[in-house]
Amino acid sequence: MQPILPSDRVAKAVIPAAGLGTRFLPATKSTPKEMLPVVDKPAIQLVVEEAATAGLRDVLMITGRSKRPLEDHFDSTPELERALQDKGDTERLEAVVASSRLATVHFVRQGEPLGLGHAVLCAADHVGNVPFAVLLGDDLIDARDPLLSEMIALRERIGGSVVALLEVPPEQIHLYGCAAVEPLDAGTDGEAVRIVDLVEKPDRDDAPSNLAIIGRYVLDPAVFDVLADTPPGRGGEIQLTDALRVLATEISPDKGGGVTGIVFRGRRYDTGDKLSYLQAVVRLACERSDLGPTLVPWLREFLATLD
Ligand code: UTP
Repeated sequence: MQPILPSDRVAKAVIPAAGLGTRFLPATKSTPKEMLPVVDKPAIQLVVEEAATAGLRDVLMITGRSKRPLEDHFDSTPELERALQDKGDTERLEAVVASSRLATVHFVRQGEPLGLGHAVLCAADHVGNVPFAVLLGDDLIDARDPLLSEMIALRERIGGSVVALLEVPPEQIHLYGCAAVEPLDAGTDGEAVRIVDLVEKPDRDDAPSNLAIIGRYVLDPAVFDVLADTPPGRGGEIQLTDALRVLATEISPDKGGGVTGIVFRGRRYDTGDKLSYLQAVVRLACERSDLGPTLVPWLREFLATLD
């Protein structure tokens, strides 16, 4: 087995959070959608916790307008901390302090929301010539499922880039980037596949599979040169999927090419649109020991009152 050189280690996480969040307007008019609460934590905190759990403590957020709440959330809050301390409210004090100690969080502005690919390109200077993770704030992966760690381990074992894939019903594939895959060489994990082609949001009849790309990536730094040459694609945006397609099909492995996928079969919560956001909040609240025992019976009663 090849030794992992320090430069091959994945140590940085990039979290693009500069989208307009139009599906949540007007809530997202002056607040980033990543700040919407999932029970009692903003979604972005769950994502930073996931990165930190996978060993990534250098986090770069790509932000746009209204970045203040994101910056403030990961900063310390001496006044609030003092007030909680004076009241002896150690539980809430710990919760407040924890969010500012999770990771070193840096910020860079995207300027204009020209697409996810462009947002990732804004991380080039901070990341440099090392592989890095990208986590999207509207895809939440359950803390009990170590998807990101598995993706990092796969990258460190075979190089190239790694994306997370999810089997979705054919009628939903038009909402995602879609991967054409073949099995990885014998002897590798059953859930890992080689990506031979990618299409952004294909029509159901043109989709090469039902494997959708979800919001976790471990990328080779070769992606930056590719993104710099990627023209606007679907929706007039610079698409990360288009750059991944080039890495998968045109760049040789010795130049940082090659893309593999891990088919994720764990718990994922999509908080990108109103319905799935509400479903995620209810599911997670029902599982909480402080809320579930009261919420679940209430929900049953409430549902019984509906037609
Ligand atoms: P979405 O496709 O969900 O777009 O972006 P959006 O603007 O956030 O939300 P809607 O569709 O208008 O409701 C996927 C991810 O890419 C980031 C978003 O912040 C989100 O995490 N993104 C998208 C950027 O950072 N910059 C962009 O230019 C576009």
